[in-house]
Amino acid sequence: MQGIRNAIADMEQQRIGAVANLALGNPDVIPLWFGESDVVSPDFIRQTAKRALDAGETFYVNKRGIPPLRQALIGYHRGIHGMELAPERLTVTGSGMTAIMIAVQCLVGQGDNAVLISPIWPNIFYAVRTMGGESRHVRLQQTAMGWKLDLDRLFAACDARTRAIFIASPSNPTGWLMSEDEQRAVLDFARRRGIWIIADEVYHRLVYDRPVAPSFLNLALPDDPVFVVNSFSKSWAMTGWRLGWLIHPPALGDRMGDLSGINNTGATTFVQHAGVCAIEQGEAFIAEMVERCRRGRDLVHQRLAGLPRVAISRPAAAFYAYFKVDGVSDDLGFAQDLVRTARVGLAPGSAFGPDNAGYFRLCFASAEARLSEALDRLVPALS
Ligand SMILES: Cc1ncc(COP(=O)(O)O)c(C=O)c1O
Repeated sequence: MQGIRNAIADMEQQRIGAVANLALGNPDVIPLWFGESDVVSPDFIRQTAKRALDAGETFYVNKRGIPPLRQALIGYHRGIHGMELAPERLTVTGSGMTAIMIAVQCLVGQGDNAVLISPIWPNIFYAVRTMGGESRHVRLQQTAMGWKLDLDRLFAACDARTRAIFIASPSNPTGWLMSEDEQRAVLDFARRRGIWIIADEVYHRLVYDRPVAPSFLNLALPDDPVFVVNSFSKSWAMTGWRLGWLIHPPALGDRMGDLSGINNTGATTFVQHAGVCAIEQGEAFIAEMVERCRRGRDLVHQRLAGLPRVAISRPAAAFYAYFKVDGVSDDLGFAQDLVRTARVGLAPGSAFGPDNAGYFRLCFASAEARLSEALDRLVPALS
């Protein structure tokens, strides 16, 4: 359409949507295509939101978050990372995605590039593209020991127009976890080159062999060129609420308020009150969620790892199995066929950046019986 910027006009249809739209809401299809569990947000969080609504928490508030939520998040970081987060470094946002968009808006302009560790959730490269930037994908390598990053390739992909290195760890879709040594090496490189790191840590609590994923917050100094993105969506099962936060250098505080305002005037007020309660009372729920995901992960691995056509590794974190099916090149078409014939919804690998043809992502944050039924339907199609 005339007048629309090419970056928007030329966007292709989102591939996960191209599968999900075939059967969204159809009870005959088991949907494992999106990044969310089948658990409704916990009752104590829902009740708090209802009380906040009834108490009239329906007005505009501080664009960087209501004071009780800001306080709660500072306490949360003290608890999980043992760090004292200065209030100027914290901005509550209307979702993890909004936090990503704000970071990308700060850094990437026409002709710039962002280097992304890939495979990667597609919204990241769409965000870069909407700002007129180029995404450079540095692909993790799938080995018998899991997914591995080649740091030399990451550094070689950066040039004078690189404004950001985007790292989602734990990763969607691979479940890869960046080690603290790798984080240190990237931080040293970023400092030397004046390149920003956008560290997406929205799956930080969904880890299986430790209480929390390694965080750039433990290494970076307050003034380092680092944004850390986080969200209530995954750990507290609050995907539909749209609440996240961003940690940034203190000098950017006012700008973050401005950008939060421009994007959505800050997070929804009564949802922020629910966020306080999620932080203060949510630890037992997170522990249950991790156990549910661990069972899902092990079940999927047990059923798929022995199939001769399937190459799969057991993820260290997040709630996805990401596997390759030998002999499949059109993963989108194959995933669409699976919906029609096996009645199971997977995300096609080619949604997650280049060189992912023949891969599929399955979200295993589901009830065991449901997941088991999905696997009964899937296994014959993948055999
Ligand atoms: C890697 C990653 N980052 C960010 C998000 C966004 O989370 P939110 O629901 O808070 O926008 C997602 C959601 O799937 C994700 O997978």
